Amino acid sequence: MIIATTIAQVREQVSKWKAQGLTIGLVPTMGYLHEGHASLVNKAVSQCDRVVVSDFVNPTQFAPGEDLEAYPRDFEHDCALLRQHGADMVFYPSVEEMYEPDAATYVEILSDMPKMLCGKTRPIHFRGVCTVVAKLFNIVTPDRAYFGQKDAQQLAIIRKMVRDMSYGIEIVGCPIVREPDGLAKSSRNTYLNSEERQAALVLHKALLLGQKMIREGEHDAAKVISAMTESIEKEPLARIDYVSAVDGVTILPVDELQNGVLVAMAVYIGKTRLIDNFTVGE
Ligand code: PAJ
Repeated sequence: MIIATTIAQVREQVSKWKAQGLTIGLVPTMGYLHEGHASLVNKAVSQCDRVVVSDFVNPTQFAPGEDLEAYPRDFEHDCALLRQHGADMVFYPSVEEMYEPDAATYVEILSDMPKMLCGKTRPIHFRGVCTVVAKLFNIVTPDRAYFGQKDAQQLAIIRKMVRDMSYGIEIVGCPIVREPDGLAKSSRNTYLNSEERQAALVLHKALLLGQKMIREGEHDAAKVISAMTESIEKEPLARIDYVSAVDGVTILPVDELQNGVLVAMAVYIGKTRLIDNFTVGE
């Protein structure tokens, strides 16, 4: 596996591959990789001739006071996982390599989409995500790029950015990978102590409750959301940021739980903010 730390190295290697007629898959990550990330790499390896994984904790998507400095990192472990799953190149740039000191250009969706759900408490987050993903698209020029349904709003936003900006890149969404007890895998799970780790199960339990109500014929979003909210509030260590039902494509609020509706939540367990979701009908 090639370890590239500069944009020039990536460009040179990708042009060699393209000259041989090979297709390129890109898996953007912030490192501290786990089986969720690995599932994206596996999917990319199955669909593309060469797979590039970016491993970059992107400062522009963190607001002051968020966990940029604390964000867990382990590049050696990331490389071992990526080799095991058949990635061809990891792009591991420094902040200085990715951002010029006077960088002032952003890619931002100006509709309400990035202001919903996580955007309510993280107003600059998706501008940072779009900017870094656009840069990665420009650097790697992949045929396909892989994103997890775990970050459903991010996936919807990237799909919109690709349409609006005419990127000729196929966006492939991948299902949420969970721990055996149901907790969605996340690099941030490492922040949880053992008591919090147990308490964190309320997210998945609430999702199962919502799914059960829908299966049994309840389609009123308000009723399902309030039942899910109540079940989370029973856990003393949990503090809800949001539990919402939105259109899975536009991320705008809905009243009816039709197929394609995204039921999403963000919940603090102690100081750690966790997200999870399901899509109705999937
Ligand atoms: P990161 O949180 O490292 O996630 C990288 C990719 O892995 C995202 O597409 C995310 O949805 C996916 N992923 C994480 N946990 C998953 C799980 N349990 N199951 C399935 N997929 C999972 O998301 C980011 O990084 C950044 O915002 C990024 C897109 C790299 C831009 O900086």
